[in-house]
Amino acid sequence: MDSLFADEAFDRRPSIVAPGAVWIPGFLSEQAQSWIIARWAEWQSGPVPPHATTIAGHPMSVRTIGLGWHWRPGRYDRRAADVNNRRVLPFPDWMTRLGRQVLQAATAVVDDADDQPADTAAAWGFVPNGYHPDVALVNYYDAQAKMGMHQDKDEFDPAPVVSLSLGDTCLFRFGNSEHRNRPYTDLRLASGDAFVFGGPARFAYHGVRSIQPGTAPEAGRLDHLGGGRINITMRTTGRG
Ligand code: SIN
Ligand code: MN
Repeated sequence: MDSLFADEAFDRRPSIVAPGAVWIPGFLSEQAQSWIIARWAEWQSGPVPPHATTIAGHPMSVRTIGLGWHWRPGRYDRRAADVNNRRVLPFPDWMTRLGRQVLQAATAVVDDADDQPADTAAAWGFVPNGYHPDVALVNYYDAQAKMGMHQDKDEFDPAPVVSLSLGDTCLFRFGNSEHRNRPYTDLRLASGDAFVFGGPARFAYHGVRSIQPGTAPEAGRLDHLGGGRINITMRTTGRG
């Protein structure tokens, strides 16, 4: 736990967390945060309600809504066979635009870094106009929810994953591609933060250690859900 209390754990400047992984604190304006939070209400009452996905016989502690595709371990389907067999909502165009803006900002962070060669951002797959995500997994965390260390590896397309956080702050762990153990970096993802992982970090293990109740800013509060956190990850499934 020592790294959680190190000075760098409180530094909220944009940074390269690992080769291929860029954190952009405060990417979303307050207005954007509350607008996206309002979308959750629509998604929640959509054809497929938020659902605790079963992994190896155990329900996850987060509740997930898929946009574009419905995710289950090892597969993406258009219909939610393990919920109500309805077809999921489409992937929204505004989210593609937002994902591209995050990649643009991540590219600027990499280009500004003194120690990265000029073509690094493109080598990591940060190509805003070439980004065509087709699924968003929207996860709701209550105060007790967590997510164990895992890889996002059910996609056939290695395009970067773009993550957006809303609501309460979480303790996020971003590790390496070999195993769940050190080396890893612990950081706090707060409401409005963006995090991108592509290229050499695309298959890094990562997880959510805990939610810090009551830490959401005014514009990011999920009062109608009783608090908690929403995370959106956009991915490119590479499936027809
Ligand atoms: C995920 O790994 O799919 C979610 C990560 C997060 O909630 O920040
Ligand atoms: Mn993940």
